[in-house]
Formats: sequence, structure tokens, C-alpha cells
Amino acid sequence: MKLAILGGGGFRVPLVYKALLQDTGSPRVDKVALYDQSPERLSVITAVLSQLAAGRDHAPRVEATLDLDKALEGADFIFSAIRVGGLEGRTRDERVALDLGVLGQETTGPGGIAYGLRTIPVMLDIARRVKALAPKAFFINFTNPAGMITEALQQVLGNRVIGICDTPGGLGRRIAGSLGLDAGRIQVDYVGLNHLGWLRRLISDGEDHLPRFLADEQALATLEEGSIFGPSWIQAMGVVPNEYLYYYYFNRDAVRSIVEQPTTRGEFLVAQQGDFYAAAGKDPDRAFELWQRTIAERKALYMAEAKGKRHDDSPEAEPFDLESEGGYELVALAVMAAIARDEKSTIILNVRNGGTLAGLDADAVIEVPSLVDANGAHPLATSAPDLHQLGLMQQVKAVDRLAIEAATTGSEEAALKAFALHPLVDSVTVARSLLRGYVDAIPEVARALHR
Ligand code: G6P
Ligand code: MN
Repeated sequence: MKLAILGGGGFRVPLVYKALLQDTGSPRVDKVALYDQSPERLSVITAVLSQLAAGRDHAPRVEATLDLDKALEGADFIFSAIRVGGLEGRTRDERVALDLGVLGQETTGPGGIAYGLRTIPVMLDIARRVKALAPKAFFINFTNPAGMITEALQQVLGNRVIGICDTPGGLGRRIAGSLGLDAGRIQVDYVGLNHLGWLRRLISDGEDHLPRFLADEQALATLEEGSIFGPSWIQAMGVVPNEYLYYYYFNRDAVRSIVEQPTTRGEFLVAQQGDFYAAAGKDPDRAFELWQRTIAERKALYMAEAKGKRHDDSPEAEPFDLESEGGYELVALAVMAAIARDEKSTIILNVRNGGTLAGLDADAVIEVPSLVDANGAHPLATSAPDLHQLGLMQQVKAVDRLAIEAATTGSEEAALKAFALHPLVDSVTVARSLLRGYVDAIPEVARALHR
């Protein structure tokens, strides 16, 4: 099978390739097309992959290309992890909002709207090429904001687009681990939108183990979410919120702690990744070694940041263990395996609601446990979210839709409403400044709004 990776020069692509190397099932991916707009990034990542594959049997063949159509032709699966405007765009998403005293973050809040505005037109163009060149391929979308982008893509690709994220599955696995349960055998009851969901139950051997976990303050405190939210808030909620809900429940604290950092996450990554691509470009024989060191640092800093520490605390980077890693690339691989081999599996994915959740339209994309088989991903029946959860989901969904409308029609009024109605933007005046700020700072946002 052929897999096309859009954003093939991206820093996390080796993780996907590593997952493919470890896959022994049949049929399996034996051909990978890396598509990217940057020849420099493509050649660095190609070098990392070939060093990663050295000595391995049946390593998928890698072909790098600057030609989208060539990458798409004959693809069975398309995996999208592009970043329109690059990490530089991410830093502007962050700064424009932070300068106005509101959350500046990659996917949540106004930063996510700006990111969506510039990304949607590009993704829709790509989707039209996919429809023409690989109409039977399944499109696995990791491009953020993943819920909004997946919903926009459905206009063109229907049920062939599936949105993925590593956070819901990761949360279930970490709680299972802390309870001493076999993560491969648990069933996770999770409901929400992308980066806006709640883990409600964790079933193993027919029993819900979440109450036991919530009662154990020590276990809670050692969970990443426990240290972010504080055990008592999770206990009060009676469910475990996705880590991204920190930006809602602790909004002022989050904004303050981001502003106090010497750099934003995006600014840190611009510098760190810039160094990596430059060094690996000069010394391609050491590309894999440099990549491995960089990803270890990146992870350590992420953990430190979540705990409210500063970037310059320089946490000790633990050696990066390639074999034990497991993030979004495993979700992607699990989806591909289930579809290609018709191996029915349950995976938390971004899919079309249909009739799953009352209170949201049938074509709204939601993030829920879904059954995946040769026909794609199908959301499983689930209990209704509570009033708070549904209310927040509806509000954010309304914002996503306004952003999609703005990006597809160029309507500035829709864009303004998207910013103004976001629960983390507290005034229409601020929304007007956000819109102006993003149009001025990010050419791709200006272009999406026909400016
Ligand atoms: C998680 C989220 C992704 C997000 C990423 C940011 O994996 O699920 O949606 O893009 O974190 O990580 P970064 O290292 O780029 O800050
Ligand atoms: Mn995600």
C-alpha cells in the first residue's frame, strides 16, 4: 500500500515512519511519498528516515517530492500534517492574542481561529486534488485545529476524512497504567470535540475503574492532568478533562504563565527546530542522531511547560526511547490497519456526528470512540454529555463553523463573529483588534479574507 504524507518534511514524520517499520501485518504500507514545499526540510527528513531504516527488513520505500499530484497518485492513505504559515505563523497566532491579554495558543482560543482561517483554503484545494487523483483513499487528518479542519474537509471528502489526535487515547492509557490495568483491554468512555473533551469512564472487565482512580488522591496527583488541574478540581468534576481544558478552567493562570515565559511554545520551537534543520542539513550523516536529541528536549520542555515551569529552567532531557514512544503516529497506524485489514477496532476519533449526540448537527465533527473497519470510522452510541459539556461544545462548534464560513467565503463579518463569540474572548472590542492584528501580521489570514 502507498501512504502519502503531506508535510513530509515535518519534524514528527520519523515517528510515523517508525510506526510503519514496526508494523508486521498484511497488507502493510510498503511505499511512502513525502510531500512538502521545502526541499531542504524534505532532504533532512529523508536522511533521518534512511538512518532509521538501516538494518531493518521490509522498510517501506521512501520517495520525496515537491509535486502534490505525484504524491497523491495511487495513494491508499493520505496523512496530512501540514502547517500553513509554518511555525512562524504559530508564533504570530500566539503573540497577537497575548498582546491583547487573551490566550495565545496553537489550537485553543483566538490563535486556533487564526490558524484555521489560513489553513482551510489550502486544505480544501488539497482535498479537491485528492478527490481527483485518489478518490478511494482515506484521508487521515492531523492538521490542526484538527476538529475544525476535519469538518471543513468533509464538504469535499465526505466520510473518507478522519481526524486524529493523540490526547484522548493517551489520557486513557496513562490512567490505565496508573491503575495497573492492561491498556490494550480497556474501554474508554470519552466525549467532546477535538482538544475539548472529557473522559467519563474507564471500563475493564466490565467494571468502571474511574471512581477508584478519582478517589485516590496520590494517583491523581501523579497523572499529568492531575498536576495541571489539581486533584480536587478533577474530583469536583467527577470526570477527567482533556489537558487542553486547562485553557478554559484556568484561563487567567494559563495566560499569565505563558506571558511570563521568556518565549512562547511556538517561539521556542522556531529556534529549536531551526537549529535542527540547519545542523542536519550541514551534516546529513548525523541527521538521525540530531533528530533524536532534539525530540527528547522538545518532550522534556513540554512536560515542564505544562507544570507551569519556565523554558529556561532547562529540565533534564531523558534519553529518547524510540521503541517505547507512542503518540499520534500509533493512532494513525491503528486507523490504517483497521481499514486496510478490516480489523475492527475502537479508536477515539474526529468523525461526523450523525445521530450520536443530540444537540449537535448531523454533520458536526465530534471526538468520540468510533468503530473502524474497512468502511471507515463510525461513531459508537454513547451517553449524552452533561449540560456544561454540551454547552461548551455547542459554543465552540458555533465558532468553528463561523471560521469555516469566513475561510470559504472570505467574509470578514463571519471571522469577526468567530473571534467575538469564542468563550475565551471577553469583548467584541478585543475581537475586532484580534481580527485586525491577524490580518496585519499573517499574510495567509489576509489572503483567506480576500485582503
Ligand atoms: C499534542 C496535540 C497536538 C499538538 C501538539 C503540540 O500532540 O494533540 O494537536 O499539535 O501536542 O505539540 P508541540 O510539541 O508542537 O507544542
Ligand atoms: Mn491534538
